[in-house]
Amino acid sequence: MTDETCQWQGWRQATERALYGPGGFYLRPEGPAGHFRTSVHASPLFAAAVARLLREVAEELGTAEADLVDVGAGRGELLAGVLAATEGSGLTVRAYAVERAARPAGLDDRVVWTDRPPRGARGLLFANEWLDNVPVDVAEADAEGTVRYVEVRADGAERLGAPVSGPDAEWLARWWPLREPGARAEIGRPRDEAWAAAVTSLAAGRAVAVDYAHVRDSRPPFGSLTGFRAGREVPPVPDGSCDLTAHVALDACADPGPTGGPVGEGHAGAPGAAGPVLPAAELLTQREALRRLGVSGERPPLALASTDPTGYVRALAAAGEAAELTARGGLGDFLWLTQRVPPTTDR
Ligand SMILES: C[S@@+](CC[C@H](N)C(=O)[O-])C[C@H]1O[C@@H](n2cnc3c(N)ncnc32)[C@H](O)[C@@H]1O
Repeated sequence: MTDETCQWQGWRQATERALYGPGGFYLRPEGPAGHFRTSVHASPLFAAAVARLLREVAEELGTAEADLVDVGAGRGELLAGVLAATEGSGLTVRAYAVERAARPAGLDDRVVWTDRPPRGARGLLFANEWLDNVPVDVAEADAEGTVRYVEVRADGAERLGAPVSGPDAEWLARWWPLREPGARAEIGRPRDEAWAAAVTSLAAGRAVAVDYAHVRDSRPPFGSLTGFRAGREVPPVPDGSCDLTAHVALDACADPGPTGGPVGEGHAGAPGAAGPVLPAAELLTQREALRRLGVSGERPPLALASTDPTGYVRALAAAGEAAELTARGGLGDFLWLTQRVPPTTDR
């Protein structure tokens, strides 16, 4: 075993290295689409729905020019789709891809590629499957019920470390108490901070985070940390060979409160100076959020097949894609966290 393989680290540090360190999983040329399908890849209907949402936000702001900030933008696929969907609509979109990976070749020149959200954006900040990739520590209650950090080696072996204390312990007590020996949780505090930093970068508009998520009444008793490689779920091993992801406690992100930690300037997710006070939040399933934006899996009327066979086939294909985006037990169960930032908010 190499020195690195032998080293024990908390999951947050190990994940940071495996995903974003030298040769890290997310910095590779194939990008996320090389390993799994998000809603963005599943259908252009998703980008069209985001374009509709952006138009709504622009109307609310009374402007024909709006910012679209895509946090955790992958290879810019969503922005490319929204730019295409808004072409000729009269809305000017200023598109920002916030990403830790490098700008891909061939991306639309109109997309600004950056490693942090622009300050003072007016429009829509959208983060699809970003927060589940913000590294977090894992905690487990030992045989006596003491809650300890889980430490991991680069080969995936685990052991229990020091007792969880300080803000992490406060976060667990508030959002994810561990009562039984063996119970595990992902400590979502860094995600709360990352989300609050993203929301507070907006001068006006809406911030939307879409992710695999749970709320206080539905936490998984043993956590949800897992790996993905080449389209398959695999054991989470922090060696850079696979994605490392855990569902997001989105109710905590919505309301970081006293233990949410400092938020301010910096990389998306980097702690800063001031305490966050986030605007009121709404949590919806993707099924409901997309339905509101006009995406439904309803099949076209059969009569269309005889009057407009080509239109019928097209509508049928769209209904199939919409059904995938809104499916129970699949993408439709994702949660959309929306926070509206009124123009008058002092920041
Ligand atoms: C699961 S992928 C989602 C990509 C895209 N949003 C989609 O839905 O297809 C998560 C992306 O978030 C990026 N990411 C993670 N943490 C980030 C951060 N702090 N700032 C910017 N990008 C980040 C990763 O590099 C990765 O490309």
